[in-house]
Amino acid sequence: MSAVVEPATWVRICRLEDIPALGARVLARAGRDDIALFRTATDQVFAVLDRCPHKGGPLSQGIVAGETVTCPLHGWNIGLATGEACAPDVGCARTFPARVEAGEIWLSLEEQPHDDCRSGFSRDRQPTERPESVVAAEAAPTTAERDRD
Ligand code: FES
Repeated sequence: MSAVVEPATWVRICRLEDIPALGARVLARAGRDDIALFRTATDQVFAVLDRCPHKGGPLSQGIVAGETVTCPLHGWNIGLATGEACAPDVGCARTFPARVEAGEIWLSLEEQPHDDCRSGFSRDRQPTERPESVVAAEAAPTTAERDRD
């Protein structure tokens, strides 16, 4: 008989409804790049380092369409599931496993292999801290959302 053991790195972040459809929230991390949490129109949730692989633009301020986000600085499109820039651009932002359970968003900060990331900031910016010390309990609205209100 086998039991399913949840990794200790899964952390509850916020409710799904705390992120508007096609919106994002920023998770601040002490001493590390922030993480952008995105919600799609179909209520999928993705977590990507909030740092564009081109020149570090804040992806959380970008426009979400389908499963991509367009960086607000120079318009690169980044796949939310993989962190990969869409052709012809080349680069990769680190992604983090995220899931929705019973209306709650959970994020895993467990180390992930990055063989699929060929370039970009993600290789240099992998967290090594325990998640309890990394993730702020509150997911803050993006600047664009604050300005809209
Ligand atoms: S910094 Fe994102 S496209 Fe240039």
